[in-house]
Amino acid sequence: MSDYIPPKPKSRTRKLSPWRRIIDVRHSSISVLYDRSYSMHMGDVWTPSRRCYFVNQPDLVNRVLVKEADRFPKSTSMGVMLEYLMGTGVFVSNGALWRKQRRMLDPAFDQARIRDVFPLMREATEDMVARFHRHADGDVVAIDEETTHVTADIIFRTIYSRPLESEESQQIFRAFVRFQELAYAHGVWELAGVPKWLSLGRFFARRQGNIIRRLLERGIQDRQDELAAGEAVQRKDILASLLEARDPETGEAFTRKDLVDQISVLFLAGHETSASVLGWALYLIANCPHVQDRLHAEAVAAFGDRRAAFGDMKNLKFARDVFREALRLYPPVSFMSRDASEPVTFRDKQVKPGEMIFVSPWLIQRHKKYWDRSDVFDPDRFSDPESRESQRAAYLPFSAGPRVCLGASFAMQEGILILALLARHFRFEPVKGHTPRPIARLTLRSENGIRLRVFRRDADGAEAAARDLEHQVEA
Ligand code: HEM
Repeated sequence: MSDYIPPKPKSRTRKLSPWRRIIDVRHSSISVLYDRSYSMHMGDVWTPSRRCYFVNQPDLVNRVLVKEADRFPKSTSMGVMLEYLMGTGVFVSNGALWRKQRRMLDPAFDQARIRDVFPLMREATEDMVARFHRHADGDVVAIDEETTHVTADIIFRTIYSRPLESEESQQIFRAFVRFQELAYAHGVWELAGVPKWLSLGRFFARRQGNIIRRLLERGIQDRQDELAAGEAVQRKDILASLLEARDPETGEAFTRKDLVDQISVLFLAGHETSASVLGWALYLIANCPHVQDRLHAEAVAAFGDRRAAFGDMKNLKFARDVFREALRLYPPVSFMSRDASEPVTFRDKQVKPGEMIFVSPWLIQRHKKYWDRSDVFDPDRFSDPESRESQRAAYLPFSAGPRVCLGASFAMQEGILILALLARHFRFEPVKGHTPRPIARLTLRSENGIRLRVFRRDADGAEAAARDLEHQVEA
């Protein structure tokens, strides 16, 4: 059992004025929380544009996300900006359009397809291991940049069956960092009641969104050219599934614009979230050498010196628990926003149409009433029968109900694989004087990055392993 308490922003002690709250939320949505936010069932805050409610109580969360999900569509405040990047893709749509998109996308993420993309995931992870091997023992590595690189590479390979070129990846990273900043700021200004026409950020956001969309569209064009030229392309990637997808009710296929919208969603929702939690997971294990040693031993027992195989995944139980615990403490999507479409009563509060409801995995998964030692990093809690009820009622890193994350199984497979392969080859240590500061905007990241020292586990075999991996990558 571990008793390590990882970084968390200091709770506020004094009540903030509404304007102060807006200014602080602009910095990060988890820096305005009070100590009591982690023990209350429900709360509400006034903002200049509308009243917002936070629901933590499991039965209320269940009403919003599962039982009465139709009454609580996705909030329009973020949708406006996200549309510049994702068009009317599945992450932002609502109602009949969303249902149709989900029917067509679900098959691309069923268990069989996730198994099919395992080799592509493994190749990108092996490339990451090779990159780490190039560092000298004890080098300080910018871990969050590495986790962004590997997860973007994985989603790119699984969509297009080809690696992400480094120039493309840099263009996408730069445009997305800027886009995230603008989209989040726009959401906050909207809450502050600033009229839309005054929010100039949207022009810049559209520009950044278009840079990413053009790059992603090129891959679709290449595939359609190959198909038109009659070249036999027997690919088992996500693009192949989307090209084959037909609406079971109408028989319609995705149009070119639909494909760009959905691929933009999958690419961004599919790498930014995984990159965020993996960075935190590595920071957590770096601070708990006994956890790292257990991860290493499990990986050695599961695949040792041979290539990891899909069948090994079921034997990586501890890696699974470490990843789940990282998702509990640092849920990449820390707040989910919904709009009330009709009047509802929650406890003693009358929620009016148009008011906003937040469900926060960050608050719920650190809630003092639902979790024992809620701020402690303890992966073993997931195998403890006593925490079963907390896991059932107060654990939702991938959301729940009809709008549950489409890529949850994909993300679990990739997260466990990356953790196991890294722990097999390397040991991580914290860097003296560097403590990451969590901030939540569109996703939960560290304001000052995540840096760790990396050491090879097997100094003698490391060079040979790096050479082998480079050969595999070249082949
Ligand atoms: C650890 C990684 C991930 C986490 C924690 C995560 C979490 C979430 C959450 C909480 C939502 C719901 C958001 C809301 O309702 O406001 C969501 C939706 C979604 N996620 Fe993920 N996600 C992850 C990885 C992925 C991956 C790898 C993909 C695709 C390859 C993906 C695709 C999507 C899509 C398409 C949606 C929208 C689903 C809908 O609205 O019907 N996610 N994700």
